[in-house]
Amino acid sequence: MANTKFIKSEFFFEEDVRESVAEVPVDKHQPWPENEKLKVVGKEIPRIDGYDKTSGTALYTFDINLPHMAHAKILRSVWPHARIKSIDTTQAENLPGVLAVITHKNIPEIKWFEDSFLFDTKIRYEGEEIAGIAAETEEIAEKALKLIKIEVEELDFTVDPGQAMKETAPKIHEGGNIVGGNPFTYERGNFEEGIKNADAIIEETYSTQVVVHNPTEPHCSVANWDGDKLTVWDSTQAIFTVRGVVSRALNIPENNVRVIKKYMGGGFGSKLAGGKYTVIAALLAKKTGRPVRLTLDRREMNLAVGNRPDSVQSLKLGAKKDGTLTAMSHYAYGSSGAYQSGAGCSWPFRTVYQCPNVKVEEYTVYINAGPGRPFRAPGHVQGTFAMDSAIDLLAGRINMDPLEFRLKNYAEKDQVYNIPYTSKKLREAYEAGAKAIGWEKRNKQPGVGTGRYKTGIGMGTQIWWGGGGPPAYVTLKLNRDYSVEVLAGSQDLGTGTYTFVAQVASEVLEIPMERISVILGDTGVVPYGPPSGGSVTSPSISPAVRDAAEQMKQKLMKAAAAVLSLKENDLVYKNGTVSSKSDPSKSIFLSDIMGKINEPVLVTTGAREANPEGYMIQTFGAQFADVEVDTLTGKVRVKKIVAAHDIGRVLNRTLLENQFHGGIIQGIGFALMEERIIDGNTGKVLTTNLHDYKLPLITDMPEIEVIIVSEGDPMISNTGVKGIGEPAHIPTAAAIANAIFNATGVQIKSTPMTPDKVLMALSQNS
Ligand code: MOS
Repeated sequence: MANTKFIKSEFFFEEDVRESVAEVPVDKHQPWPENEKLKVVGKEIPRIDGYDKTSGTALYTFDINLPHMAHAKILRSVWPHARIKSIDTTQAENLPGVLAVITHKNIPEIKWFEDSFLFDTKIRYEGEEIAGIAAETEEIAEKALKLIKIEVEELDFTVDPGQAMKETAPKIHEGGNIVGGNPFTYERGNFEEGIKNADAIIEETYSTQVVVHNPTEPHCSVANWDGDKLTVWDSTQAIFTVRGVVSRALNIPENNVRVIKKYMGGGFGSKLAGGKYTVIAALLAKKTGRPVRLTLDRREMNLAVGNRPDSVQSLKLGAKKDGTLTAMSHYAYGSSGAYQSGAGCSWPFRTVYQCPNVKVEEYTVYINAGPGRPFRAPGHVQGTFAMDSAIDLLAGRINMDPLEFRLKNYAEKDQVYNIPYTSKKLREAYEAGAKAIGWEKRNKQPGVGTGRYKTGIGMGTQIWWGGGGPPAYVTLKLNRDYSVEVLAGSQDLGTGTYTFVAQVASEVLEIPMERISVILGDTGVVPYGPPSGGSVTSPSISPAVRDAAEQMKQKLMKAAAAVLSLKENDLVYKNGTVSSKSDPSKSIFLSDIMGKINEPVLVTTGAREANPEGYMIQTFGAQFADVEVDTLTGKVRVKKIVAAHDIGRVLNRTLLENQFHGGIIQGIGFALMEERIIDGNTGKVLTTNLHDYKLPLITDMPEIEVIIVSEGDPMISNTGVKGIGEPAHIPTAAAIANAIFNATGVQIKSTPMTPDKVLMALSQNS
């Protein structure tokens, strides 16, 4: 690695601020010019792994088939809350083909979360892990599950966060049902004063449902021991996190654990943490002395590996007649399921609009249900739905256009830390998006249309970090045959990481994409980099790739200077050839340089530079929805979504649009149809397959137009890239809700905005 230093750098990952001292390069590279002047970066380049994926040759975790591999299943609780009195596994063990059964009785205690264990004798939700079985086939393992005899003492349960907050509710953890024991609170200015100064005040309660990630690819682990070395193929967004979880759980050093993730069919946050299934696969592999594959089915994915917490949000907002916001308060609670994960959703509320007087109080509550996990822009999706619904209501009260209202309260600075942004082009996004959707066509008076079908236009604002930061490293190897291997501290969840890494290397080294291979997702070979979450991958990794490639170019120049006996500042690099500026007849191709210095492989390591101190890095955007509401059936059809965003530099226009399409479609699911439903009488989940859990279909797709108003942000890194995975998804539901409001004159205050809710609201209004 070239010259580095360690300095303090702030890094936002999901909802956390991570302040760390990070190793960063001393020398910075000149910012790139706009994409138009670049050769490879920014272009519409198809993914380099596209052929492997569409032809079926790409290996996903489930495709790993090892000789003598055994198959595992997990026995899961059918009770929402219970205490295990006894487990008898004799019959299961005696079933021919069963190789091993593990329960709390025959493995060492493995701490999992606070007061709980890998196999806990206290059951806290339907679907919780009780035992693991390895057998010759998955069918035998499945059969054996039913032969395990369990006696439990059933406990009172609670599956409603509002009820769970009450003193009298059954306690899920010793410390009570409020996570951390206290609410998160935030305050600036004086809310009561601000309300006094308002000409119009609104007070409303909005709620959002629990949704489940449901990535296409199931959660899956394959574990294989070779002596005391363990290799785990795992469907994960975070290979180094999984390595840490497995090594701690099994009490073995990290260098004895190798975690591999080559291709992935989505995670959306549900694969951001190390899973119990991974540790169970490793334990069963150890016990049987054979490789073990453990794949979760759709039911297990809907019960036990994460969800977006629900929310009940009570908002009070005040504004002056001219539209100036004077006060905002946000009281909220939401479930985290039986274990970790925050349900907070107030960040957008605290910072999207300029307002001097803001008050927040929010509770994350344990209930007897599957644990929450981060889900594509945790907190922001539900928070933005409520906030932007309330903003439109308030704008209506003072007869102001909702877009004008937003511009009136445009935040020039970050409102929470009171520091400037590295860049903010939200105004440009508003303008471009409004133009593309035809904002002037919206109903000046919500609900004025007549007839069965009513149309409307609405918008939502997006804010999210997505700036990335150090530590993130990339190793680049140049071979004498003019081929390159780039090993990046990352893993591709299906978003196109392989492709942009190759593009950045190709841009700098002027070596064609076809000569570049990218290696990701293997703790055994790649340097460290962040989990693929928080929209940090491209902003963290792309500058490190550029740094590694620029160093390689410098290395070649230095070597060429020595080989040609010329001064370095007399040399230029072009397409792998170094030549003299003063005497163009003197030139040498990189293969010959490498031959002369007798190094068949040249290696450099690049790093992500630090984020600037005293600045806030955020992504911004606005989405505009054009919808049609069938007032007879209550069905909402999204006709068009315009997404106009400021996300720094675009690395690849095709991949960018993929991300926006996915995010918007997932946003439509959240807005209109997806919902995990638990029966309050039994504590059991009713939506455990993709028939009962309704995802958007091809027939639900709107026309989508993506507009990017930004070029690179040179203050954040040498590529100026910000992330887009989460921004693409944040404002969709809010835009749809406001479009329904504009169409019908009625706000639907609860997601999903299903036909029954729409009809109910319409009938109450008439
Ligand atoms: Mo995260 S919710 O995986 O970006």
